[in-house]
Amino acid sequence: MDRHSPIPRHVAVVMDGNGRWAKQRYMPRFFGHKAGVDALVRAVDLFAERGVEYLTVFAFSSENWKRPSDEVSGLMGLVLVAVSKYLRRLATDGVRIRIIGDRDAVTDKLRAAWEEAESSTVHNTRITLSVAFNYGGRWDVVQACRRAMADGLGPTELTEDVLSRYTALAFAPDPDLFIRTGGEMRISNFLLWQAAYSELFFTECLWPDFGATEVDAALATYARRERRFGGIPAREAAAAAR
Ligand code: IPE
Ligand code: IPE
Ligand code: MG
Repeated sequence: MDRHSPIPRHVAVVMDGNGRWAKQRYMPRFFGHKAGVDALVRAVDLFAERGVEYLTVFAFSSENWKRPSDEVSGLMGLVLVAVSKYLRRLATDGVRIRIIGDRDAVTDKLRAAWEEAESSTVHNTRITLSVAFNYGGRWDVVQACRRAMADGLGPTELTEDVLSRYTALAFAPDPDLFIRTGGEMRISNFLLWQAAYSELFFTECLWPDFGATEVDAALATYARRERRFGGIPAREAAAAAR
């Protein structure tokens, strides 16, 4: 078995299943999104306790604007509620918050809340929580290219490493583990560039139910995976070198 650290440095999560969780309870979808915020705060602490350094979560995709306007505005309002309810606690728990995504389309109020969340946690070091909001993997690649071009980079200077530095998660290593809850087995335009070699873990668990059991199952699965990055298993490479 190829040896890699048993604990992923960076975990990415598509937090899916809020709507179905609410439906099972004969409640409106918003009820599921509210419970999803509580699950997120719980997950941050669980991953931090287990030594994960970066947690990146998909909260609102570039495509989620297609939802009914009352659900979209409900989600926007929920961000404000979540920041006022949980920011202080996350800040004292050592969580550094970053927001990734296109901020141009959100209201001034929401932008201000994001800025407050980021600036009041900037010195924290226990875990970095990146919230992908109005984020899409394709948007990320395009905005990176645009910013590189605006910096005057020409075609020959634009290498993979250089472009990476312009992507929204340039401050973090690529995700080692990519989790999706809710049972769908697709990426839905999340971290297309960064997840090139992530280990994938899909669970039927609906996001509001995500807790220690799922965290430990995902981490145990990850620890057993053999990562190759296009090479051959380490033991075979060692045997070939002998
Ligand atoms: C994920 O839950 C949260 C967001 C996309 C904002 P969904 O709202 O997609 O829940 P399901 O997939 O309909 O159950
Ligand atoms: C992905 O879930 C986006 C988020 C979790 C924020 P969706 O529910 O939007 O994905 P699809 O539409 O099922 O692919
Ligand atoms: Mg969904």
